[in-house]
Amino acid sequence: MKTITNGFLIALEGIDGTGKTTLCAALAQAFSTTYKLITTKEPGATELGKLLRHTLLHKEVPVCDKAEFLLFATDRAQHFNQVVLPHLQAGGIVISDRMADSSLVYQGYGRSLDLNTLQMINDWAMNGRNPDLVLYLQLPAAVAYQRMKARNIPLNAIEQETALMHRLTEGFDALVAPRDNVVTLDAQMSKEELAEHAITIVTEKIKAHAVYAQ
Ligand code: TYD
Repeated sequence: MKTITNGFLIALEGIDGTGKTTLCAALAQAFSTTYKLITTKEPGATELGKLLRHTLLHKEVPVCDKAEFLLFATDRAQHFNQVVLPHLQAGGIVISDRMADSSLVYQGYGRSLDLNTLQMINDWAMNGRNPDLVLYLQLPAAVAYQRMKARNIPLNAIEQETALMHRLTEGFDALVAPRDNVVTLDAQMSKEELAEHAITIVTEKIKAHAVYAQ
């Protein structure tokens, strides 16, 4: 197994229904024979995260916008402390289905919370360890809806807010445009094409980034 000094952190981002979960599995399959690799997700990768995920996605009690963000940030802090940072320190690859950018888009662009404040709290929760690579799966909101309907996936409390959903696509596009750690992928490609494309990108980025230990 190859280890990478300080590890390599990949976040998969995009609106719901873009195929992040399928891509996560395909990347894991491609790289786990060579590297120590874990796949994970936000929210809900830890015991605490599972409790928070239930509260966030079912909204059985009132949750105001700031509280919603802080619960995602709480999940993130625990996730980094317990799962992400230890694996990176051990020289592995971490692939997370969503991470900090989801908060900037859903709670920032979606709910109009101040982006700088969210960014500051995210950085604190993550100990300043940002992803080495963000793969942004770009898909128009209308297409994402069709996919979710076709798959008969019951929409969670966040997805049911249609007006919000449409603001998210614009939010992601605006957020990633100036960033150099983001690669945008067309999520309308077939899942095989998408995986092939993403595997090529990840291979190149690891090569460019990695200082291999023994
Ligand atoms: P999930 O079922 O994991 O969605 P998906 O499989 O489509 O990624 O639900 C996570 C939901 O939480 C999703 O609607 C996006 C939302 N979310 C936020 O609003 N803010 C965040 O910081 C994160 C991580 C997720």
